Amino acid sequence: MNLTEKNTILITGGGSGLGRGLAEAFHKLGNTVIIAGRRKDVLQTVAAANPGMQYEVLDVQNLAKLKNFAADITAEYPGLNVLINMAGIMKLENLNEAVDLSVVDDIITTNLTAPLHLTAALLPHLKQQPKATVMTVSSGLAFTPMAMTPTYCATKAAIHSWSGSLRYQLKGSSVEVLELVPPYVQTKLMGEQQANDPRAMTLNDFISEVIQILATQSDAKEILVKNVYPLRFAGDFNAEKFDLFFELLNGMSRSSGSERDYSHEEASAAPYC
Ligand SMILES: NC(=O)c1ccc[n+]([C@@H]2O[C@H](COP(=O)([O-])OP(=O)(O)OC[C@H]3O[C@@H](n4cnc5c(N)ncnc54)[C@H](OP(=O)(O)O)[C@@H]3O)[C@@H](O)[C@H]2O)c1
Repeated sequence: MNLTEKNTILITGGGSGLGRGLAEAFHKLGNTVIIAGRRKDVLQTVAAANPGMQYEVLDVQNLAKLKNFAADITAEYPGLNVLINMAGIMKLENLNEAVDLSVVDDIITTNLTAPLHLTAALLPHLKQQPKATVMTVSSGLAFTPMAMTPTYCATKAAIHSWSGSLRYQLKGSSVEVLELVPPYVQTKLMGEQQANDPRAMTLNDFISEVIQILATQSDAKEILVKNVYPLRFAGDFNAEKFDLFFELLNGMSRSSGSERDYSHEEASAAPYC
C-alpha cells in the first residue's frame, strides 16, 4: 500500500481506537478517509477534528444493507481503493454456564460475517482500480487464544485463514490483501480499564509502528508490530513450549476452568487482548 498516493480509504470502526488512529494517520498523509460506524456523534466529532475527513453511519451487523451501502459509497467516492475492515467487538464468555447465543452470534456477525460480506460487495469495484488494498484485522489472539473470549478468538483465527485464501485468489489482480495483527493496545475494546492498562501498548506507539511498517515493508502481508510477536509466533515453538505459553496466557495454573469467575476484573488482569 502506497501511503503517499492519494488513496480513498474506507475504515469501518473508524470512529474510535485503532480505526480512529489509522484514519487520522492516513488523513494527515493526504489521503481521502471515510470513517464508518454506528455512533453518529462519535463519527461527527472525529470528522470535525480532522477537517476533510468524511463519515458514514453504518451498522455492519445489518448484513442485508451492506450491498446497498457498497453501491452508494462507490457512487459517491468512485476513487475508493482501500477497504479497512476494522469494526469489531470482544466479549467475555463462560462456557461452563448457559451460553448466551445472542452474544455468540453478535461476535461472529460483526467480526467475521460482516467483513466477508462487505469485502465481497466492494471487490468488483476495487478490482477496477489501478491499485487497491483490502486490509483485514485479526489479532495476536488468532494465533494463541485467550480462553475467556473464545468466540472472539475463533473469529480472528477465521479472519487470518480467510485473508490467506483471499490473497491467493486475488494474485495477479490489482488488489493486495494485508492482515493487521494487533497486540494488546490501549483502546476501549474491552472497556475503560483497557484504555488505561499500562501493560497494553499505547495507541500512538501502535499507530506509529504500523505506519512505519506500511511505509518500509512493501512486501509484508501481515502487519506485525514487535509486541505481537510472542502471540503470533507461539505456534512456531515446539508443542511443549506452545502449551506452556498458552497456560501462562490463560493463567490456568492458578485455578481450574470450571471454578473460574469470568469477570471483567479478570479480564483486566489478562496479559493480552
Ligand atoms: N485493542 C486491542 O488490543 C486489539 C487487539 C487485537 C485486535 N483488535 C481489533 O482491532 C479492531 C478495533 O478495535 P479497537 O481496539 O480499536 O476497539 P474499539 O475502539 O472498541 O473499536 C471498535 C470499533 O468498531 C465499531 N463497531 C463495532 N460494532 C460495529 C457495528 N456493528 N457496525 C459498525 N461498526 C461497529 C465501533 O464503533 P461503533 O460502536 O460506533 O459502531 C468502534 O469504532 C477490532 O476488530 C479488534 O478486534 C484490537
